[in-house]
Amino acid sequence: MKALAARLELAGVPFRRDVPLAPLTWLGVGGIAPVLAEPGTAEQVVEVHRACRDLGVRLERLGSGANLLVAEGVLPLTVLKPNLKGMEGPEAGAGANLEAFIRKTIEAGLSGLEGLVGIPASVGGAVAMNAGGKHGEVKDALEAVVVADADGIRTLSREACGFAYRKASLGGATVVSASFALFPGDPAVLREKARAVREEKRRTQPLLDSSAGCIFRNPPGGSAGRLIDLAGLKGMREGAAQVSEVHANFIVNLGGAKADDIRCLIDRVRDGVRRAHGVALELEVVQWP
Ligand code: EPU
Repeated sequence: MKALAARLELAGVPFRRDVPLAPLTWLGVGGIAPVLAEPGTAEQVVEVHRACRDLGVRLERLGSGANLLVAEGVLPLTVLKPNLKGMEGPEAGAGANLEAFIRKTIEAGLSGLEGLVGIPASVGGAVAMNAGGKHGEVKDALEAVVVADADGIRTLSREACGFAYRKASLGGATVVSASFALFPGDPAVLREKARAVREEKRRTQPLLDSSAGCIFRNPPGGSAGRLIDLAGLKGMREGAAQVSEVHANFIVNLGGAKADDIRCLIDRVRDGVRRAHGVALELEVVQWP
């Protein structure tokens, strides 16, 4: 990683060495990133991609760390956290906080994103995961994204993003910024809609606990949370990791859990659901390495 650091230094890309990732994730577990690059321009994002490509180093992107389970120890990868936080009308940088951006659009009388409140995410992470829920997904409102990789910077239309359930296919490129197709709306009405969505989430999800949101993807036509609940697995513990009593598809860190506790609990939940319902749950949460 020394060579990589030297390369970033030369290219003028801001970075930090030996960064503990646990405080940068919602689950609060995980080890050390030897290099964490924080590019502040699209050109710098390209530089990070080129350096990693040339040196054969794996590159991962970090948004707000809300959907991420990081292993302990020193990770064999470089982390790119876009420091692109600008917000202007219907456009936002990848590093902007999604909730703050939605509030801004609402106050500007722009409708289209209010159903996505209460999702902890950066704008880049929300695009890359096609974040959403029953009140809509990112892809419903997205117009275009600017992405960057070792080949340069380009704009992708919504159709070119390969959106699917909790997924985009950006060919390994990093989101630099996103623009949304919003339409005029009354801020008072939009505020009320956002309040109702937030309120519903607060009632049904353990939003104040340390978690990574839903751990498993919903199986076609079903609900992972419901299946886990019906299998009687709510409250099950492994060390300080626990299947949430509020929503069974959340695993919460009660304080001091390790990555292995969470992984072990994930396996036990998967086994339990397979035995009870014959359904193989797939992970939604992203795992490093
Ligand atoms: N249910 C239970 N027990 C539970 C949890 C849920 O019986 O412990 C039942 C509910 O009563 C409901 C059904 O299961 O009848 C579905 O539950 P819910 O409405 O909470 O939705 P979900 O399918 O579990 C999805 C997304 C959430 C999103 C919510 C609300 C996935 C995996 N989950 O949850 O997304 O917030 O809808 O829009 O797609 C996330 O992706 O991280 C996430 C939290």
